[in-house]
Amino acid sequence: MSKILVTGGLGYIGSHTVVELVNAGYEPVIVDNLSNSNIKILDQIAKIIGFKPVFHELDLSDEKAVISLAAAEPGITGIIHFAAYKAVGESVAMPLKYYQNNFYSLINILQAYTGQPVNLVFSSSCTVYGQPDILPVTEDAPVKPAQSPYGNTKQVAEEILEDVINSGSKLRIISLRYFNPVGAHDSALIGELPIGVPQNLVPFITQSAIGKRGKITVYGDDYNTPDGSCMRDYIHVVDLGKAHVAALKLMETEGYDKGYDMFNLGTGNGTSVLQIVKAFEQSTGEKLNFEIGPRRPGDVEKVWGDVTKSKKVLNWQAELGVDAMMSSAWNWEKYLATNPF
Ligand code: NAD
Ligand code: WQD
Repeated sequence: MSKILVTGGLGYIGSHTVVELVNAGYEPVIVDNLSNSNIKILDQIAKIIGFKPVFHELDLSDEKAVISLAAAEPGITGIIHFAAYKAVGESVAMPLKYYQNNFYSLINILQAYTGQPVNLVFSSSCTVYGQPDILPVTEDAPVKPAQSPYGNTKQVAEEILEDVINSGSKLRIISLRYFNPVGAHDSALIGELPIGVPQNLVPFITQSAIGKRGKITVYGDDYNTPDGSCMRDYIHVVDLGKAHVAALKLMETEGYDKGYDMFNLGTGNGTSVLQIVKAFEQSTGEKLNFEIGPRRPGDVEKVWGDVTKSKKVLNWQAELGVDAMMSSAWNWEKYLATNPF
């Protein structure tokens, strides 16, 4: 069984990916420092997969800790590197916190494994495209100047990865550029756990519907889109988890010789904020309270991905639509209401 190190494996996307790794016959080894997750997620994962996966609580930005980890876990064949800070607004206020964690963690992992034939999957983001000139945006579209220190960590990380491959590293690396991950596992045992007031649309919607927050503000209805609200490519987190398995499988294919590559992970469709509000109401039967507010500074108007390359090369495509995204996110919110973390 292939042993896969999953950094940030108790986080939102990491926990769902651990489940898909087990479904596909891999042996996950989870690493997390619990800075944005909860140890109870390990038990929740165990309820889904039927056993408690191996877990190391450690800070990947600590070089010595990563060296000890690599020694303690021989035989790693793949790494999925989720661990990073991800709050865009916070990164503007605390850039060094972001540069320190996101870069040190990545570099420590690369240092530890660069001499080994290990397959590395990196969590990148559609944020690297900024506002694309052409939609849907393809992987070869230009990377736009970063809008935040967080976004900058993704852009520079991609450059670091390419440099490492060009230097003759034994690693193989794939960057996955996620669009907007939403939703939760079908079991409603794992999902997103936002700390404080959610900045992202879907967790705010579910918390508003359950009565934890007030009404939702739709940030602007005067954009150049059919209904005036911003458009995004929302992607179900379970589909994302499966894409990580596909990326590992691709790099394991005999004859695979691409050192570094990158793929868009989205559905290929743009959905507006107002369409999301409506889809939530329709798929859950809940009424949402919302008002139109001013634009949120830094928001791009519309972005959705061209997923041709992912379909063709990664052999992966999204299967779940907006209704499944909304109903699963809502089921998770309801689970949390009766089983608080
Ligand atoms: P998350 O915060 O839920 O998960 C990240 C996990 O990494 C957390 O469990 C956190 O405790 C852990 N972590 C952070 N720093 C660590 C460190 N130094 N050592 C050990 N563990 C550490 O975030 P997520 O939404 O699951 O995102 C996963 C990855 O995907 C991140 O790299 C993020 O930037 C990227 N991404 C996320 C989105 C999104 O909207 N969720 C979109 C694009 C890209
Ligand atoms: C989606 C849409 C808002 C909240 C962020 C990061 C990006 C990536 C994904 C990591 C926008 C609108 C939101 C609300 C609203 N993360 N909105 N009212 O901004 O597309 O992307 O997460 O890489 O880097 O920037 O996601 O969920 O915050 O917003 O109207 O209360 O919902 O304006 O149009 P975003 P989001």
